[in-house]
Amino acid sequence: MRATSTALTPYRAAVDPLRRADHRAARLRRVAPAPRVVAKGLESFGGSNAASSGGSLGRRNARRAHPKIVPISNARRTVAKNVVLQANDVEDGEELTALDANKPYTPPHALPGDPSSPTHDKSSRHHQDLVSNHIVHQISTEPSTGTLASCNRNLALEMVRVTESAAVAAARWLGKGDKMAADGAAVRAMRQALMHVDFSGRVVIGEGEKDDAPMLHNGELVGTGVEPVAEIAVDPIDGTTLVAGGRNGAVSVIAIAERGALFDPGPAFYMDKLVVGPAAVGHVDITRSPTVNVHAIARALKKPVSEVTCVVLDRDRHVGLVEELRMAGARIKLISDGDVEAAIAVCDPESGVDALFGIGGTPEGVIAAAAIRCMGGEIQGQLWVRSPEEAAACRAAGADPMRVLRTNDLCGGEEVFFTVTGISDGDLLDGVNFHDFGATTHSYIMRAPSGTIRYMKTYHRWKDRMAQTNKLQDSLTGGGAFKL
Ligand code: FBP
Repeated sequence: MRATSTALTPYRAAVDPLRRADHRAARLRRVAPAPRVVAKGLESFGGSNAASSGGSLGRRNARRAHPKIVPISNARRTVAKNVVLQANDVEDGEELTALDANKPYTPPHALPGDPSSPTHDKSSRHHQDLVSNHIVHQISTEPSTGTLASCNRNLALEMVRVTESAAVAAARWLGKGDKMAADGAAVRAMRQALMHVDFSGRVVIGEGEKDDAPMLHNGELVGTGVEPVAEIAVDPIDGTTLVAGGRNGAVSVIAIAERGALFDPGPAFYMDKLVVGPAAVGHVDITRSPTVNVHAIARALKKPVSEVTCVVLDRDRHVGLVEELRMAGARIKLISDGDVEAAIAVCDPESGVDALFGIGGTPEGVIAAAAIRCMGGEIQGQLWVRSPEEAAACRAAGADPMRVLRTNDLCGGEEVFFTVTGISDGDLLDGVNFHDFGATTHSYIMRAPSGTIRYMKTYHRWKDRMAQTNKLQDSLTGGGAFKL
């Protein structure tokens, strides 16, 4: 839906990158991070989503009744069979990534199909090792062409172990005030778990340059080096500050897509985003004002603007946006961090939030787009550059800050998988809980072609795993009964 007026409201004029020369100076001022100021009158909305997560249990129970969200089971009990643990497994919380003794990891050096790949030469030692190590895990009945689109498995079902591992590792740092340690633990756990997934993955959105992280950097190859080939976007913790501060709403996420399907943010750190759920798809236009869009959303959802709830990151740059939404009469939910979880929640009709407005990380926008594809919602984005130099760098990298990026521009292709696991409690998912047996995690697993969304609660029982393994072996050898 496009409105006819071309007038810019103060908020749109302020955020539209390079749209008007007279706003360049204002944009340049944003390069230096300003001290955080909560706009007068906004205090009552709180500074985090912690306060607003009250009552989420009722919503979660209701969500389980939603026909598109399928509770897999009360418990996917993880019982280790023929496993050995590495010394640092337990320490970092990735007890979930116990190594199969018969499946040594061989680092991939290039993707299958690449002439430089050791797996390209079928007679190579590397290739034979891969085949012998992974023959059991190959797609059994159908010939594979090696592309993700030809893969009829739900790769996300395997990836959920990866986000679970990262979430458990991160959750150990909840409230301990050390976001670097939390991030490091989550990255290590995610990377280790990824290396045991049977696929050839290339990280296209990783910890990247933004956090200057040593692992899971852009371009890194992960997986066991066999087919299918995929590109992945990872965020071991979306909301490192939330974890460090013991706040709600932190999640661990992975998006998986075909080669070339995920938008490359290049040097663009930030993107102006507008996200709506399935019922409002096609009704919004990010180039229009928030006022116009919030009215369009209200019409699409068949409710008054006063009942439309908009999620906005609590940032100085959003003071004008919040004022405009408030003037329009919409409800506003400010979050202190974590706009991936917020974008996913917008697509969940039972989350209680209807739209996400405002500027957040570009990588987070691409990752969210994968979930939005799976859930049938819509994201529109425009790169938000902080200086003429950044604008020039974006253009040089082929990314036009003026362009409106739609859902399929950010995450294209046929096959898209998405996995998210809660670290701390949130509107979308419960966080990690530690128990005497180990931990429980809560995840959504999604696939775009089918639109299926699975809810998974997992009981990780590593604390009595050795005892269970012994019992299992007893039962197999007739030494005793073992029941799950
Ligand atoms: P991190 O987990 O990397 O800290 O990101 C949290 C986050 O709130 C994202 O969800 C959001 O897109 C981005 O930061 C916003 O960036 P900034 O904090 O610089 O405004």
